[in-house]
Amino acid sequence: MKKLFLQTFGCQMNERDSEAVSGLLIGRGYEKTQVAEEADLLLYNTCSVRDHAEQKIFGRIGNFRKMKEVNPNLIVGIVGCMAQEHGARFFKKNPEIDLVCGPGNLSQIPDLVDEIRNARAEAVGHFTGPSSRTSRLAIDKLNDEYSLGDIRYREGNIKALVTIMTGCDHRCTYCIVPYTRGDEQSRNSESILREIKDIESRGFKDVMLLGQNVNSYGKGLLDETIDFTGLLEKIQKTAPKISRLRFITSHPKDAHTRLFQAMRDLPMVCEHLHLPVQSGASSVLKRMKREHTREWYLEQIDEYRQFLPDGALTTDLITGFPGETEEDFLETLDLLERVEFDAAFIFQYSPRPGTPALKLKDDVSPEDKNRRHQALLAAQRAISLKKNQEMIGKTTEVLFESKAKRDDDRYVGRTRGYKRVVVSSPENLVGEFRPVRILSAADETLLGEIAFA
Ligand code: SAH
Ligand code: SF4
Ligand code: F3S
Repeated sequence: MKKLFLQTFGCQMNERDSEAVSGLLIGRGYEKTQVAEEADLLLYNTCSVRDHAEQKIFGRIGNFRKMKEVNPNLIVGIVGCMAQEHGARFFKKNPEIDLVCGPGNLSQIPDLVDEIRNARAEAVGHFTGPSSRTSRLAIDKLNDEYSLGDIRYREGNIKALVTIMTGCDHRCTYCIVPYTRGDEQSRNSESILREIKDIESRGFKDVMLLGQNVNSYGKGLLDETIDFTGLLEKIQKTAPKISRLRFITSHPKDAHTRLFQAMRDLPMVCEHLHLPVQSGASSVLKRMKREHTREWYLEQIDEYRQFLPDGALTTDLITGFPGETEEDFLETLDLLERVEFDAAFIFQYSPRPGTPALKLKDDVSPEDKNRRHQALLAAQRAISLKKNQEMIGKTTEVLFESKAKRDDDRYVGRTRGYKRVVVSSPENLVGEFRPVRILSAADETLLGEIAFA
């Protein structure tokens, strides 16, 4: 059997894409390995969202030559968003790369790998010529992931990822995603429901719906009229044994009353909303082309909390976007403290090739970017801690997902609000729901004990 080593970077959509690719290759007789050195096929599923993410991959590509010296049959490929962005430039810079395949072409990977292998076999004994003879590039289809829609292969048996749409019609000026993933395309609901029904029948407990912009689900579907809340309702009806349904990512522009209502009324939908705000200053939001203001965002939050007073709320923030003044930054800090997010992912602005923000001067000094970043992180840590401490003494439902690393008696799970909980137990809790009383809290983790009725 041929061995596949596949490592995933970036977002959950990449995680799901990687499962789909694994499924296709396993169908062609591969088995997976966690050891890169023993692989016949090595793939990195990559992310372009920040420069840091790309540098990590460039670092690893540096090892390809050595790996191929040890194993001349090895095929190496870069897939996902970086493949889409850099395309054939990869071959020029790093001729040892055999395959470059974008997110819209993933379903071709097994065939392309076969072609590469055959071409190599033919080249033996002949003048091998330029490596382009034995390498393959597939980046011509931005939005064709639906061929992957019905792939049933999954890693694990508790949580399942389900892609409901890809691409993005927004054009936030800092963001590369619309260029690597293309315009929005929704998957038809019948296909989604079939997949979720299968997930339910296999005993999974938790489903996460994926899309760059899930709230605009349904837009552009030709043969049906459905929106995101309509989809949530259908999932509730079709697969009621799924206990937890989550979704990412929502855009503030399209998060609305009906969504909050559905989150309150549908038992399986978790009381957790991830609503990236990016900045607390309307002038910055305008330059980011976020299509919402500070005030609009705060109104949405008020409304969400009217419907779900105990609902969890998380966000993404960028510090140091071009033109961000100290006052703008203080507005962001103020918004963060006013909303009191349960958690926030905070990033320093990273200029991305081909994005509209490149025309703006990246004028916030690295020192200021970093200082503001640290200040937001510290403020958020204090808020997360405070919110977690408020849970001490309360009992909440936890779904246990794994054993704690290096400790046999400790199990790690999540609340419906996506808080991480660690519990000691002589019984194997993986895959189980238990009521847990919270005993103590840190900013990222709660410690608890099983609460017996
Ligand atoms: N579709 C999602 C996810 C986009 S990428 C959304 O619309 O929210 C995830 C997060 O990365 C974004 O929310 C943003 O906070 C951050 N991000 C995107 N581009 C960035 C850039 N150029 N520099 C720094 N952070 C960025
Ligand atoms: Fe990027 Fe904005 Fe689209 Fe999110 S909504 S993927 S941040 S362009
Ligand atoms: Fe990264 Fe592409 Fe996801 S850029 S965040 S892997 S959509």
